[in-house]
Amino acid sequence: MARWTLQVALDDDPQPLTTRIAQAIVQDVRRGRLRPGDVLPGSRTLAASLGVHRNTVLAAFDALRAEGWIEADSARETRVATSLPETRAKRFSGRASPRASLPEQPGFALGPQPPSRDREDYPGTIALFGGQPDLGLFPVEAYARAHRRALRTQRKTLLDYGSPRGHAALRRAVAEMLSSLRAVAAREENVLVTRGSQQALDLISRALIAPGDVVAVEAMGYSPSWQALRAAGAKLEPIAVDASGLDVDALAAVCERARVRAVYVTPHHQYPTTVTLSAGRRMALLALAKRHSFAIIEDDYDHEFHYEGRPVLPLASADPDGHVVYIATLSKMLAPGLRVGFVVASRAVIEALARWRVYADRQGDMVMEAALAELIEDGELARHARRARLAYLERRDVFVEALRRELGGALAFEVPRGGLALWARLEARGADGFCERALSNGVLVQRTRTMVFDGGDRPWVRLGFAGNDGARLEEAAKRLRGAMRDAKPSKAR
Ligand SMILES: Cc1ncc(COP(=O)(O)O)c(C=O)c1O
Repeated sequence: MARWTLQVALDDDPQPLTTRIAQAIVQDVRRGRLRPGDVLPGSRTLAASLGVHRNTVLAAFDALRAEGWIEADSARETRVATSLPETRAKRFSGRASPRASLPEQPGFALGPQPPSRDREDYPGTIALFGGQPDLGLFPVEAYARAHRRALRTQRKTLLDYGSPRGHAALRRAVAEMLSSLRAVAAREENVLVTRGSQQALDLISRALIAPGDVVAVEAMGYSPSWQALRAAGAKLEPIAVDASGLDVDALAAVCERARVRAVYVTPHHQYPTTVTLSAGRRMALLALAKRHSFAIIEDDYDHEFHYEGRPVLPLASADPDGHVVYIATLSKMLAPGLRVGFVVASRAVIEALARWRVYADRQGDMVMEAALAELIEDGELARHARRARLAYLERRDVFVEALRRELGGALAFEVPRGGLALWARLEARGADGFCERALSNGVLVQRTRTMVFDGGDRPWVRLGFAGNDGARLEEAAKRLRGAMRDAKPSKAR
């Protein structure tokens, strides 16, 4: 061995010195600077060269011996274990730092990746995310009390492994809530509690779809659902959407030429256009599902927030033959960060999803689920939903007023009957330029391309109004006027 010297960083590394010395020796073995059988300097010599106490080096040697990196030979010298594989010495420069960062790239090829959905932070901007509720309205005190009570009274069960279907009291409370408010004849056994709609979509995709199966989706739609379906191997068939929602005739035509396994729809407030699937189309869709034995994955993500008349009842309320797999979420009604959603379906579907769930994340957050059950049972959630609905209705009207005043005819839209966003047509050819100018004027508008199946730029934008109060919405409208200024007029209508 060429003269070996141990280099150990003695700066403000938080690890104990013993660990750092041991790691530095291991690293030198890995790099080939030390070979199997090489004799190490004695502990006294090493301690003196490093300027540390001998016991520190002895403790490092002990640890390395226990892990099989070094051994004592018959002459009582300490050697690198002869059983270790040879490593060719690499050119080495700089100090051996046990804190070197991990490589940027893995040493293997990654599989296919979905598009990134990371939210970027733009401080100082007003975000008009379409699905954003106002977190300032969250019933903090009531929730905190319920959470504390759940933990105190049910600790032994809530902190243990539990059912992948969710906390029984929450499943019961949700079943009752859906029966009384949405006319869905659900019982506890028909409910699976998930971590938001997204996990519901993921589990449904796994349980229903085999690779190559055809699944119809809305051609203007919610792309996270497309990714969940694709991940299960689905072949997606985009179906046009118009002012009455999904074009069910177009879906029927697809059913004539392909075996459709499922359709994913947002009938109540179509995403992103906000329109409600017409009564005629609802009936036609249910009849089509029966004729072709496909599943209807109904995503009812913001049911409570309907402003003109009563919310329209879900397809799941008129499904005697068990075609609908219904998804609901608390992301809009309470807060997206809770990650709580529900699947409501026939018992066999719930059991299939529960099997898959075990391998995804085992179970949900039982303490939170117990707390939420209490909030539903004592009427707190319903009271919160009423308060939030009134606040959002007011904000919708303020925003509509402000947009009309600031932008006039440059932005054409129908006042949405429900939901947390409005869908507006731009004078421009596409939305990309508008979104960019909006951002430089301090307003964050979601890119329309992400809502279009073919990824094309369309002259529409989805503007959320629920997450900001009236004053901020007025300010946002003013800033948007600036973004409109040099928009190019659209040719195609
Ligand atoms: C169509 C649709 N479904 C579901 C959700 C909610 O997703 P999650 O429950 O995973 O937060 C949203 C939120 O934006 C949505 O727009």
